[in-house]
Amino acid sequence: MFYASISKRSTAKKMVICDTNPIIHDDEETTERSDMLGSSPVTSKPCALHASHGVPASKDCLPNRTQGLTFKLEVIAYRLLGGTSPKVKFLLRCITTSIFDPIPPWIIIYSITNDIMASIKIIVFGPTGKVGSATARYARQQGAKIILAMRDPQKPIPGLTPEQELEGGYERIQADLANPDSISAAVNATGATRAFIYVAFGTADHMKSSITALKSAGVEFVVLLSSWAVQGDLRSIQPNEFVAWTHAQVEIGLEEVFGVNGFAAVRPAFFASNALWYKRMISEGEVKMAYPNAEFDWISPEDIGGICATLLARGSQGVESSSDGNAVFLCGPEKLSQRDAIGVLGRVIGKDLKVTELDAQAGLETFVKLGLPEPVAKELIGTLAKRDKEGTMFGSPMYERAVGNVEEYMGQKPMRFEEWVELNKPAIDA
Ligand SMILES: NC(=O)c1ccc[n+]([C@@H]2O[C@H](COP(=O)([O-])OP(=O)(O)OC[C@H]3O[C@@H](n4cnc5c(N)ncnc54)[C@H](OP(=O)(O)O)[C@@H]3O)[C@@H](O)[C@H]2O)c1
Repeated sequence: MFYASISKRSTAKKMVICDTNPIIHDDEETTERSDMLGSSPVTSKPCALHASHGVPASKDCLPNRTQGLTFKLEVIAYRLLGGTSPKVKFLLRCITTSIFDPIPPWIIIYSITNDIMASIKIIVFGPTGKVGSATARYARQQGAKIILAMRDPQKPIPGLTPEQELEGGYERIQADLANPDSISAAVNATGATRAFIYVAFGTADHMKSSITALKSAGVEFVVLLSSWAVQGDLRSIQPNEFVAWTHAQVEIGLEEVFGVNGFAAVRPAFFASNALWYKRMISEGEVKMAYPNAEFDWISPEDIGGICATLLARGSQGVESSSDGNAVFLCGPEKLSQRDAIGVLGRVIGKDLKVTELDAQAGLETFVKLGLPEPVAKELIGTLAKRDKEGTMFGSPMYERAVGNVEEYMGQKPMRFEEWVELNKPAIDA
């Protein structure tokens, strides 16, 4: 995090640059922050000039050129519009500050875009998750207001300290994706208009009533974390393809309730964080797995979250103008067998790790013991076997496109597996 405070010469205003997004704090923000910190809010008295023109109280009653002109423009705007919103005041200040107290135009542009983004309220369901937490953090970095909708609001958010959560103005609320009433209550209470959701497994209607609750409460656009397994016509996918089918059913629900441009389905391939399946064995120095030669792309949840955040910021207009439509396939930048991935991981954490091959049945039992639902574990073993024999995923135009999508939507190169391990060393080695 990079913070810098710039006190402007002739104004009492403070400019804070946070995560490369400069935010000019106006009166409302200062008061709101004081409230968040639990200290007494700043009280402001109208100066004689404001009071005589019937303009409400403002702290900026210092007589100087910038504020003088701002004030005059405010009065005119107040008279013309019958009141001034924080946005109008903010724009007037940008204009007068740039006349009398020039600041680089990029800061003004950043500030204006930041102000626009701050009006976008995004509710992130599952912010304790690897992708959910990254989505929340990246969307906040882009300037949006973030609501953290959690089954247990006491849980920590990965990658966010309580101080950063407070500083970023995040708001927590209780909600469960399998409980439509809790969804309605959370959206109504916060006024969120965009939502990030996971597939909640095991709902009787494949989340249809939860999706309907989102829409009825005022959400206009949803980003779903779906799966690479969902390919082709959604309605042709059969229940025996458990992973593809469960994700496809939720996509169908979203399509029916929100329409094709009302949601985006992010369909990533194999997560780098799947290496954490073997965390206990890594600590013991021997990793036992089925099909160690099966190759995957190891996309990082951080990149997936970044792309979800971009899609949330763009909203339905982004989907309408995209050649991908509402389905965004994502793949990591390098193919690596499970065995090689464990080798990379051992090198980064400085540990000699032995890989021992298990047969399919023992591999299945390992996944079930790890807590994966049996149909998921079975399908995973099937995928490993297929990758081990055919390596079907790589080399297809779809794979190339999915790798390119990471850079296209994130604006930066995808994270390599080694980089992901480096970033997550404490969690792997704990
Ligand atoms: N692993 C892969 O290779 C892969 C590939 C493609 C797609 N996917 C998709 O990605 C998902 C895993 O993503 P991840 O690694 O970010 O997951 P994760 O770290 O396990 O986090 C899951 C999150 O979902 C929340 N959640 C679960 N059920 C919920 C409910 N009913 N209501 C509200 N929140 C709920 C959890 O909240 P709590 O804190 O309350 O538990 C948690 O925050 C898979 O389930 C699949 O859909 C995975």
